[in-house]
Amino acid sequence: MAIRSDQRTAGRPRRKEACCRLQWVKYGGEIDNPASIIITAQKLPFSGHRTSSAMSAPQIPNLNTLRRGGGRGRLRGRGGTSAGEDGHGLRATAAKDRVVQGTDNDASVSRLSAVEIGYLEDPFARASTSPGSETRRLPIINRGTYVRTTAIDRLVARFLGLESTNSTTTETRKQIISLGAGSDTRVFRVLSQPTVRNLVYHEIDFPVNTAAKIKFIRAAPLLQRALGIKGPNDISISDTGDALHTPTYHLHPLDLRTLAASASTSAEPAAPPPPPSLPDIDPTLPTLLISECCLIYLSPREAANVVDYFTKMLFPARVPLGLVLYEPIRPDDAFGRTMVANLATRGIQLQTLHEYASLEAQRRRLREHGLDAGQAAADIDFIWERWVSEAEKERVAGLEMLDELEEWRLLARHYCVAWGWRRGAAEDAVGVFDGWRDIEGQSGE
Ligand SMILES: C[S@@+](CC[C@H](N)C(=O)[O-])C[C@H]1O[C@@H](n2cnc3c(N)ncnc32)[C@H](O)[C@@H]1O
Repeated sequence: MAIRSDQRTAGRPRRKEACCRLQWVKYGGEIDNPASIIITAQKLPFSGHRTSSAMSAPQIPNLNTLRRGGGRGRLRGRGGTSAGEDGHGLRATAAKDRVVQGTDNDASVSRLSAVEIGYLEDPFARASTSPGSETRRLPIINRGTYVRTTAIDRLVARFLGLESTNSTTTETRKQIISLGAGSDTRVFRVLSQPTVRNLVYHEIDFPVNTAAKIKFIRAAPLLQRALGIKGPNDISISDTGDALHTPTYHLHPLDLRTLAASASTSAEPAAPPPPPSLPDIDPTLPTLLISECCLIYLSPREAANVVDYFTKMLFPARVPLGLVLYEPIRPDDAFGRTMVANLATRGIQLQTLHEYASLEAQRRRLREHGLDAGQAAADIDFIWERWVSEAEKERVAGLEMLDELEEWRLLARHYCVAWGWRRGAAEDAVGVFDGWRDIEGQSGE
């Protein structure tokens, strides 16, 4: 029988630096599943008072090197200047965008790490990760990737009616639109399931990221088969190499902020520009929108306008619509403040984090977008505790030693999944989100 990590560590001292305490987890770059999680080993006064708020990023050593006895963290001495603060105007925006686009690589490396160790089953992860970028992540990062992925998978499966005995729910034609999908593999995992029928899957990302994904697809027959591509007639790729269309899958090269501009209701004198085209999105189909660590990079107004574009402009109110968000939360405690400060050193600004800082704020956000049939949210710690069965917890805990339970809980409490939906009024689509009603959310802040 596999031993849970908390059982394994019971009764023996936790790994600790002498007169230092691993105290605050800090993100060095990838925020959805941090690529370089850094934990401060700050010398504490013997009184035990925590003085983390006075810490600045350059003082914080890298946990990986620390544990190997390597000493200094790589941020030491770099100063606190964000890449985005170096310039102005377009150049600065382009530089910031490049950083944001690069977060996708961190996400795919983390996914591959979790898959290779056995947390997740995903035959498409390797083919969707740049060769040579494989890195084994820390156990708490792998567990985070596992919880976040399986939580969203569950919401997707319920939307698709995969766990339902109601054939109306299963057979209804549906659509998924993933915002900032990057090199996410969910589309391959979902579309390759023989039980998934009548689904059209759309992904949107910056052209540079969609072009990279198309290269992966071109290079891997495994990915082509998952998408049902049997020959050249089943697929069309734009001359620019960044847009792809098959009968069931559409990859759109688009900066989401252009949708936000067209949905803007601000009192600016000029009329908002017309929305860019998103070919083959069907505004009559029950639709699930997914933002897995994407809208957080937009300004609060842009993020709200992007969602409004879908909920108020593109899809009429009678069409059932759901939104799943995965985002960091709780920026105002010591961990949160350190996370924000450290990301800033990488030029990453989590723009909506303060706007939607709590579970309640996320629920309110969903309500304000007209997703009035239900809104719920839960942090990753809660999801691990309450959604994952004891047997599965035991299997996962047996994969590798995770003795930083305190750090795990701290990290996991700073990320959440939120989901909300409206029923719409389309007769043939009644109940597509009914499967979400008994998924347990977390109450309170
Ligand atoms: C942290 S990655 C997450 C990728 C993927 N959703 C996943 O969870 O594996 C964030 C993604 O959002 C995309 N993104 C951020 N801002 C965007 C924008 N304005 N327009 C399009 N994509 C954007 C980035 O390019 C990147 O691929």
